[in-house]
Amino acid sequence: MRTPLIGREAERERLLAAAGRAAEGHGSIVLLAGEAGVGKSRLAAEVADACPPPVLRGAAVDGASTPYGPIVAALRSYLRADPSGLDECGSLRPHLALLLPELGDAAEESDRATIFEAVRCASATVVLDDLQWSDEATLELLAALASPLREMPLTIVAAYRSDGLPREHMLRRLRNELRRGGELEEIQLEPLDRERTADLLGELLPEAPSPALARAIYDRTGGSPFFAEELVAALLGKGSLQAGKRGLELLAEDDEPVPETVRDAILLGLADLSEPARAAAEVAAVAGDSLDLGIAAGLSTTTGLNETIESGLVVEEGEGRGRFRHALAREALYAEVPWLRRRDLHRRFAEALEGDSAPSLEVASHWRGAGEGSRAREALVRAARESETVRAHRDAAGAGAVARGRGGSRSDRDARALRRRRRAHRPASGGGESVARAGRPPPLTRRRPRLRRGAATARRRLSAERRPRDGVRGPPPGGGGVPRRRPPG
Ligand SMILES: Nc1ncnc2c1ncn2[C@@H]1O[C@H](COP(=O)(O)OP(=O)(O)OP(=O)(O)O)[C@@H](O)[C@H]1O
Ligand SMILES: [Mg+2]
Repeated sequence: MRTPLIGREAERERLLAAAGRAAEGHGSIVLLAGEAGVGKSRLAAEVADACPPPVLRGAAVDGASTPYGPIVAALRSYLRADPSGLDECGSLRPHLALLLPELGDAAEESDRATIFEAVRCASATVVLDDLQWSDEATLELLAALASPLREMPLTIVAAYRSDGLPREHMLRRLRNELRRGGELEEIQLEPLDRERTADLLGELLPEAPSPALARAIYDRTGGSPFFAEELVAALLGKGSLQAGKRGLELLAEDDEPVPETVRDAILLGLADLSEPARAAAEVAAVAGDSLDLGIAAGLSTTTGLNETIESGLVVEEGEGRGRFRHALAREALYAEVPWLRRRDLHRRFAEALEGDSAPSLEVASHWRGAGEGSRAREALVRAARESETVRAHRDAAGAGAVARGRGGSRSDRDARALRRRRRAHRPASGGGESVARAGRPPPLTRRRPRLRRGAATARRRLSAERRPRDGVRGPPPGGGGVPRRRPPG
């Protein structure tokens, strides 16, 4: 059950005001930043629901965001809701078919301008989520759009995790570029304050919490709605709450301590899963952000997978696809999957996806997780070629560079050839590479929130638990929110 949106009135107003200005022909990009679990997706979804249609929604995928991935996801979900939705796009169709093969015959090449036109003709509001994991082509497109949007009836809400964003991340360049053009509009979403956290608890709990319980949960969670939800679910699940004079309170004598960290809370919440469901949940955690239910059922059991869906841990997304309830829950469980099993599951996913002509980047990320360097390299080189087709040169170069960095003579040659082709294809004006020209940005001067002591302690705990402890973690593909071990990127 989803609780009503707590607080966020000012932020919601700002986003709706931007949509209102777009309706009058003055569009914009609004960045929505905040730490993992603070409520970016929720707020963006609320705003999307309140905006007049058509609204497109897409998200980047951890470790495997293909060129224009979030935009393709948005267009695809739009087409699912309205199969004739892109008919108006007429001559753009073959170009779009490069990204969306279900549209039919594809043009040989496509470029940013075409994709831009398609987004424009299909939508009034676009919500792009999880951009900390975005491909570079999408972020370049956003940078290039900022100025023309001023004269267009289109709002783009671009959400990203701001904690743990690497210094060289393209998002920092995007912010920098937007700021230089006077187009940076950003909402920094802070954790809920004490009062709002109590309001949220009032919605999550079957009875009102006592002031002591509300205080304890706020102090532990620092106002993170995600952490609060998980903590409440864990406390309810293990029967640690009782009715007291002033509302629900913690059992005075409880053997089990209250979970200290968000991961502890998540794992405690999973403790009651049956064996087959636990096995299926592990498979889903290894699968990645988006899950092929058929493959997952083949690697676990239909019964187990069904139980994860019934319990709400895995959410069906239609057409045989699903996703984990929340990325943070997936990351926490992934870290718990024993190493040998994880490696084996990655291998089996890689094989199944390769047979299914899945995007090569996704295949590569599973080969990496399986410890199969040369198979990963081959898939990366294929991914680089796929990126070239849509002229996502930076993504192509990135995939080629990772492939090269991992050695392999044939891959090296292929990657070098791709680099040469990339140089040959680069537009003479350089307009398509505007973010690239921005050069190295100065460090992001993010406003540090002033935290009360309890909240600060909780946030330290949150970030401490995201630090890798066993060195297994590879280079993060994009952002923070990282548990002990991290899905390969
Ligand atoms: N203002 C709010 N009122 C009620 N529930 C909220 C609020 N903000 C977030 N939540 C709930 O908290 C959980 C986490 O929120 P959400 O998924 O939006 O976080 P996020 O910032 O997008 O996290 P991530 O960075 O991991 O994507 C969700 O279940 C969401 O419904
Ligand atoms: Mg989110």
